[in-house]
Amino acid sequence: MDKLLSECGIASRKESAKAVRAGIVSVNSVIAKRTDMQVDPEKDIILYDSRRVVWREFVYLMLNKPDGYVSATEDTRDPVVTELLPEEYRKMGVFPCGRLDKHTLGLMLLTNDGQLSHRLLSPRRHVTKSYAFCVKFPLSDADVAQLEAGVDIGGYMTKPCTLALTGEREGVISITEGKYHQIKLMMETVHNQITYLERRSFGPLVLDPDLDRGEWRELSPEEIEALRQA
Ligand code: URA
Repeated sequence: MDKLLSECGIASRKESAKAVRAGIVSVNSVIAKRTDMQVDPEKDIILYDSRRVVWREFVYLMLNKPDGYVSATEDTRDPVVTELLPEEYRKMGVFPCGRLDKHTLGLMLLTNDGQLSHRLLSPRRHVTKSYAFCVKFPLSDADVAQLEAGVDIGGYMTKPCTLALTGEREGVISITEGKYHQIKLMMETVHNQITYLERRSFGPLVLDPDLDRGEWRELSPEEIEALRQA
């Protein structure tokens, strides 16, 4: 029981013991007497302080990252994206799948599924990520062609990508890799500068327009399946 409660992010082993002593944990309508009792999370109906305990190993969340947060679970200087989530997800070991810069906004996947995260980030998989961007100076057709073909960012040649302008100084860029500061560095190679960057999609996952900055939701079963297939 205590293992289950801690894996669900509901209570630490110590807190579980306290809750059992306080008589607020029940298994199949019988008040639990011991914190180490055997339970079957798939069959038993467990209530913790009147809340149904549903066991699951993995969780998958979509967050609309606001400005100023770093893509980490801990940082000494800046707020971290996991601070925007309820405690129970943090206790389940949720972490950001990939990085967005501190001032980049938009779609961030968070999960405790290390294997899926590793697969999605693997350079061999070429998962496409799209970003809406604004730059300081107008982009010429030649700039666009150069960026699409690949540019040298500090000794690394970027892979071909697509870039659609929606204005002189804005557009959507889709890349299949994720080098550190990649888009910023790419724009610098054409003597430009990113002034706004927002991730709109990550593989099959699209930023939910109903999520305001800083808001999150769990992925639907269809979204999780699509990520597994990506
Ligand atoms: N490229 C960048 O430069 N920054 C990001 O946050 C993501 C991609």
